[in-house]
Amino acid sequence: MVVAQPVSAPLTRAAVFLVVTINPGSDNRAAVRSFCADLPGLIRAVEFRDLEARLSCVMGIGSDAWDKLFGDPRPAELHPFREIRAGPRHAVSTPGDLLFHIRAKRMDLCFEMATQIMARLGDAVSTVDEVHGFRYFDDRDLLGFVDGTENPRGEAVIDAAIIGEEDAVFVGGSYVIVQKYLHDLDGWNALSTEAQERIIGRTKLSDVELDDSIKPTSAHNALTTITENGKEFQIVRDNMPFGRAGSGEFGTYFIGYCRTPRVTEQMIENMFVGRPPGNYDRLLDFSRAVTGTLFFVPSATFLESANDDPAAAIRDPQSTLEPAPPDPGAPDGSLAVGSLKGENRHE
Ligand code: HEM
Repeated sequence: MVVAQPVSAPLTRAAVFLVVTINPGSDNRAAVRSFCADLPGLIRAVEFRDLEARLSCVMGIGSDAWDKLFGDPRPAELHPFREIRAGPRHAVSTPGDLLFHIRAKRMDLCFEMATQIMARLGDAVSTVDEVHGFRYFDDRDLLGFVDGTENPRGEAVIDAAIIGEEDAVFVGGSYVIVQKYLHDLDGWNALSTEAQERIIGRTKLSDVELDDSIKPTSAHNALTTITENGKEFQIVRDNMPFGRAGSGEFGTYFIGYCRTPRVTEQMIENMFVGRPPGNYDRLLDFSRAVTGTLFFVPSATFLESANDDPAAAIRDPQSTLEPAPPDPGAPDGSLAVGSLKGENRHE
C-alpha cells in the first residue's frame, strides 16, 4: 500500500517554506537519506503537541539532489526549473535540493517543526530560503484579492496532484513548483479597483469571476486556465502572503502541486510570455519572481524506506494507492485527502 505525503492538507493559518541545498560529501548525502526515513517520526512528535493544530509537512526533492541521493529509477518528469525570459519579465530558476512545506493552524508549531528539521539535518545542508507565511484576512493576498477560490476540492485534488499509474514506480508522488514573488504595492495601489479586477479576473470585494464580456484574455485567471479537448488541467495551490513592513517587503509565496510539472509550467509560460505571446499577465508589471524551483514529492512510503531500497517498497505490482494517513486531528478520523473542502478552510 502506497501512502502519499499530505499534499492536500487543508489551507492553514500559518506556513513555513524552507528550501535548503545539500552540502557536498557522501556523509552529508547519507545523513539526508537517513533523515528521510526519520521524518515521519519527527512530524508525529511535533504534531502530538497539539493535534488540533493540524500540523503537516511535505518534503520535496530537487532534480540534482535526486540523482545524488537515489539515482535510478528517477521520477519521469523531474528536471530543474526552466527559467523564462520575456521582455522585462523573468521567471528565474534558483537553487534548491530539498523543500519543506510546513503548515499548521499555529505558527509556533510550524516554527518548531522547521527547528527540529534543521537540528536533525545539521551541517549536512545549507539554507537558501526560508519564508514564514500568514493568512491575511479572508484568504487574501497582499494585493487585496482572495487567493485560492478556484482550487480543486474533494476528489479533484487527488486527480490533479497525485501521480497514478502513468509512472508506476512513483505512484502516490507529486511535483511541486515554488516561486517567491515580491510586489510593488505602491504601484498596485495606485491603480483603480476596476483596473486591478481586470488584471486578476475577479471582483475584489466579493471575489466573483468577471463576466467574459469584460474579462480581458490577459487576466490572471484566464491565462492560468489550461484546457485541452474540453478537459481542464488543474493544480493545487496554497499561496501564502509574507512580508516585512519595516523594509517595505510585500510578497506572495506561490506553491503549486501537480501530477505533472507540465501544467504548472504552461501556466507560468502563459503568464510570462503571454497567450498569444505578448498578451502577458499584467500582475507581473507589479510582481517580480525572485525564486523558482521544481521539486519531486515522493510518497510517504518511498521516504520511509529511503535508507533501504525505496523504489522496491512501491515497485510491488500488488501495491495500491492510499492517499494519506488518517488524520488524528480530524474529529471523525477522516482521511486528510480531499480536505480542501470549504469547511476545513482557515484551519
Ligand atoms: C504573484 C503571484 C500570484 C498571485 C498574487 C496570485 C493570485 C491569484 C488570485 C487572486 C487568483 C484568483 C482566485 C483564485 O481562484 O484563487 C488566482 C487564481 C489562480 N492562479 Fe494565481 N497568483 C499568483 C501566481 C500564480 C502562478 C505563478 C500560477 C501558476 C503557475 C497561478 C495559478 C493560478 C490558477 C490556476 C488560478 C485559478 C484560475 C481559475 O481557474 O480561475 N497563480 N491567483
